[in-house]
Amino acid sequence: MDTLEAIKTRRATKKFDRSYKMTPEQVKSLMEHAILSPTSYNQQNWRFITATEQSVKDQISKAARDQPQPSDGSLVIILCGNMDAWKEDPLRYWKNHPLEKQKTVKNALHRKYADSLRNRRDEAIRSCGIAAQTIMLAARQMDLDSCPMAGFEYDELAKVINLPENHLIVLMIVIGKATEPANLRGGQLSIDNIVFENKF
Ligand SMILES: Cc1cc2nc3c(=O)[nH]c(=O)nc-3n(C[C@H](O)[C@H](O)[C@H](O)COP(=O)(O)O)c2cc1C
Repeated sequence: MDTLEAIKTRRATKKFDRSYKMTPEQVKSLMEHAILSPTSYNQQNWRFITATEQSVKDQISKAARDQPQPSDGSLVIILCGNMDAWKEDPLRYWKNHPLEKQKTVKNALHRKYADSLRNRRDEAIRSCGIAAQTIMLAARQMDLDSCPMAGFEYDELAKVINLPENHLIVLMIVIGKATEPANLRGGQLSIDNIVFENKF
């Protein structure tokens, strides 16, 4: 499937086939592609919780206000941002490059995030948003369907996954096989409502 086809056929799946199970190899391949998503300064500040065990998926569904997708899908991925990634051994983010470059990045990360919770949160959200689309498009290529979800009780889900204090849950994605074709699209806005040339 080419990329444009994957973009067009990705839909928010509401009904997953409960009997369909991804193999561990499929899950691994999906996550290996997910981590090729871009992040600012290559800080790789996403952390992914992957759940395939039924009892965990059921707890996630409960935290998601009893929405059925996590329970019914094969894999649930909870995308979290580590807001302290910028300072956790940052030289490793450019380990393939000379030390000089590694130190330049470390200093830049410090300048941007040390004194700004807003920058740390924004970066978590940016990185996870981009990774989310990577995951959903990669899933299409693997002939799988997905549903992005943010309808959950934050504190309840945080408890289920043992979320560390300095991490932010951004969204979750359920992956599996749809049992029925997607609903009619809600209705996209026209391009001239949302795209402006050069300035607003
Ligand atoms: C951040 C985000 C949160 C969402 N949360 C939910 C959710 O909790 N439950 C759900 O069924 N769909 C959820 N959706 C799916 C949207 O309703 C869906 O993407 C939108 O209606 C467009 O439809 P499409 O994805 O099929 O094009 C969410 C989508 C996004 C991007």
